[in-house]
Amino acid sequence: MADNKPMRLWGGRFEGGPADALTRLSVSVQFDWRLAPYDLLASRAHARVLHRAGLLTQDELDRMLGALDDLDRACRTGEFRPTVADEDVHTALERGLLERLGSLGGKLRAGRSRNDQIATDLRLYLRDHVRMIVSRLVELETALISQAEENADVAAPGMTHLQHAQPVSFGHQLLAHVHAFTRDVDRLRDWDRRAAISPLGSGALAGSSLPLDPAAVAAELGFDAPAPNSMDAVADRDFAAEFLFCAALIGVHISRLGEEIVLWASQEFRWIEVDDAYSTGSSIMPQKKNPDVAELARGKSGRLIGSLMSLLTTLKGLPLTYNRDLQEDKEPVFDAVDTLLLVLPAVSGMISTMRVNKAKLEASAPDGFALATDLAELLVRRGVPFREAHEAVGHLVVWCQVNDKDLGDLTDDELAKVSPHFAVDATGASVRDVLNVRGALAARSAFGGTAPDRVRDQIANLREIVDSQAAWASES
Ligand code: ARG
Repeated sequence: MADNKPMRLWGGRFEGGPADALTRLSVSVQFDWRLAPYDLLASRAHARVLHRAGLLTQDELDRMLGALDDLDRACRTGEFRPTVADEDVHTALERGLLERLGSLGGKLRAGRSRNDQIATDLRLYLRDHVRMIVSRLVELETALISQAEENADVAAPGMTHLQHAQPVSFGHQLLAHVHAFTRDVDRLRDWDRRAAISPLGSGALAGSSLPLDPAAVAAELGFDAPAPNSMDAVADRDFAAEFLFCAALIGVHISRLGEEIVLWASQEFRWIEVDDAYSTGSSIMPQKKNPDVAELARGKSGRLIGSLMSLLTTLKGLPLTYNRDLQEDKEPVFDAVDTLLLVLPAVSGMISTMRVNKAKLEASAPDGFALATDLAELLVRRGVPFREAHEAVGHLVVWCQVNDKDLGDLTDDELAKVSPHFAVDATGASVRDVLNVRGALAARSAFGGTAPDRVRDQIANLREIVDSQAAWASES
């Protein structure tokens, strides 16, 4: 300020200044400055409440709101910046207000504390950014759905244990990822309901003796209601931990998708080709094309999970109410938001531009005796107990391996030789009729199955869900 001493919001009772080591440990403005726009929103609401309580005259309110607007503008243009001497975002903004208003600026602190302010700021920030994250998830869902639509009729090897299991529609597999992401969005929307509580008015911990109006502040800031318990309001970081869980699970889902892309793009699979725009090369091997986006998507999940662990560990064992430990809530939250906003657009771009090698998928779909279950189920329809059918098909698979044949290569005679169950039946039907991939897919036509018609039903349903998610993110 005038004498160039660092401004503190708590200087009154202290004789000496703080030790440098404490100042360096304590300062958070280098990361909490991003909360400035939200702190200013809350300040405007608080100023109006002070005015209605008779604690600011109309003229004072007008000057206060004018200064807050100007400070907001100056923050956005970069004309006003925090300095190393500002302990946190609240200190920096109070300095900005005092520079504009002189002692009138000091009136805004009445009835509030950094404890209810910071809890409010972080909720506002997160509710805003959750909507951005949902928009990015919607783009990823849309990219996957479009590829699924293109590939609903393409048969692919469905795997368990990374071994060929049964043929599936490749679109069905892509949609499996979409369902996971729609649940992630659902979880964030559900989170938002619980996060929509305003801590402002709780003061340091006990509320205020001034006639404030927490409900009016809550409404002005877009919250559903004010917090019903001031102690809970300043101590609670459930909303941050819960957000980090949602973010970590999104990370896990992106990582799982990334791993599939890495596999699919490999020489061994050759199911897809990642577009050049989403691939990198090697500094030594000229032929290399690497799926780095998918790998980074997989890698970033580690820090998302770490952020959740970090905050839960910080919160564990804290007595009520505010403790300075809570300052440690912000960096994991910000890092998770930044990470998701960074990784999601890259993954969406990679998915929407990847080229699917349909011929390779179709050719591999029956490999590894993937139609064995279809054969066993045919015997079941002919009245054979499944236990016996399973055994007979198992023998047939071994016979094929010994004789270097695929199920699809077998003649009626060879089949009948392995087991009478495989003989042509009284109606003249051969078991070979079920030994085709297209029939195997179409047969799985119950709700949730991989039949291409069911895949198209899923696509129609998912498009509706994704549309409503997009609307939520942009309208609420
Ligand atoms: N920088 C602090 C935080 O992030 C703001 C609240 C400080 N409150 C206090 N009583 N020192 O938690």
